Amino acid sequence: HFDLPEFGSIAKNFNLMGESLQKSTAENQRLALIAQQTADAVMIHDLNGNISFWNAAAQKIFGYAPEDIIGKSASILTPKGEERDLAQNMRAINDRRNVENHDTQRQARDGRIVDVSISAAPLIDPQTNELIGDICSMRDITERKHAEIAERKAEVAENKLEENRQITHLIQKHIEDERRSLARELHDELGQYVTAIKTFAVAIANKTKEKAPEVEASAQTIVAAANHIYDGMHNIIRQLRPGSLDNLGLVETLKDAINNVQKQQPNLNITLEFSGNLDGLGESLNINIYRIVQESINNAIKHAEAKNIEVKLAITKTGALQLTIKDDGKGMDVNAVDQTNHFGLLGMRERVQGFKGSFNVDSEPNAQMVTKVSSKKAGVKSAGSQSSGTTIYINIPQALNVSN
Ligand SMILES: Nc1ncnc2c1ncn2[C@@H]1O[C@H](COP(=O)(O)OP(=O)(O)O)[C@@H](O)[C@H]1O
Ligand SMILES: [Mg+2]
Repeated sequence: HFDLPEFGSIAKNFNLMGESLQKSTAENQRLALIAQQTADAVMIHDLNGNISFWNAAAQKIFGYAPEDIIGKSASILTPKGEERDLAQNMRAINDRRNVENHDTQRQARDGRIVDVSISAAPLIDPQTNELIGDICSMRDITERKHAEIAERKAEVAENKLEENRQITHLIQKHIEDERRSLARELHDELGQYVTAIKTFAVAIANKTKEKAPEVEASAQTIVAAANHIYDGMHNIIRQLRPGSLDNLGLVETLKDAINNVQKQQPNLNITLEFSGNLDGLGESLNINIYRIVQESINNAIKHAEAKNIEVKLAITKTGALQLTIKDDGKGMDVNAVDQTNHFGLLGMRERVQGFKGSFNVDSEPNAQMVTKVSSKKAGVKSAGSQSSGTTIYINIPQALNVSN
């Protein structure tokens, strides 16, 4: 590789070489050797643009042997439509200017277009100070160009992903806001009325206890119905918006939610394990983690008929959030899950992606477990993977400085 100043000096030395052919110095021989052996194509053109020197790399890149090209015009290497490019270079040489790292294209003998970076310097006869041609090097930058294109594509994809992430995040936030206001409406408006109905019904029951027992019985029915509505409503409110999230934080809210599930499903065993400081996660992560746990437990109950569910939530020393939810249920074929009408797993993934985290599901349908034992996957399983059911792994590398 020539740096440009060095390149200029090579040009100068080539000039000197012409002057002192018979007293060729060691330095000139060394330079001639470099020109012959360098990985860049090096060629010399005379004033008409005909090639008079052609090194091994030039042959390798363009496919012409020296005897096929020496004496021919440089335009033999110029792709159709790029003639102006060559003319421009020749003009620079005629003006005794250098061409520096000019990125363009040339054509090989087999028609292949090669991306090249061209540097050229005028050759001047030192005795007469006349321009006699130029020395030109062409570096093959095809790989660099391909890398640049790949890089640009990756950048575009990354931007797109980031855009999607932000939109999903916004939508999730909007939904949560909406739910919160619904929960508030339910609680403040409907809740008041139900309480009022119950209070009146209790009063009626008290007043009619002796005089009109049949009215009292009806009043008691209203009380029972009001209680029912009240409980149902609070269940809905809890689903809509776990109020304790704001007051008690994530850990207590999860414990509370799981206690509630546990009450409704006495045969199910749910364990919760926390580690690290989970207080500083911020509202947005809190609600999203809560939703993910909620949905995975629902799934484990509804689809897997699990007997045991393990939820582990940790903040590592580096501030990463790691959540694993494992059930011992019937498992599923992860690749066959229909996500056109089922948004639970998809929603979890999107929530996690919104925080630039990773979401992985490890599961296999139980029915296939038996046959899989002898297959390749058996090795993977024995290497620490769970033996049945479903495990969801979530990792959010930077969980502590997430904005809400
Ligand atoms: N823990 C699980 N165990 C077994 N199958 C599951 C589990 N979680 C999800 N699935 C399967 O994946 C499908 C998609 O789940 P999900 O996206 O949550 O949608 P939905 O719960 O509305 O069906 C479910 O219908 C079920 O077949
Ligand atoms: Mg679901």
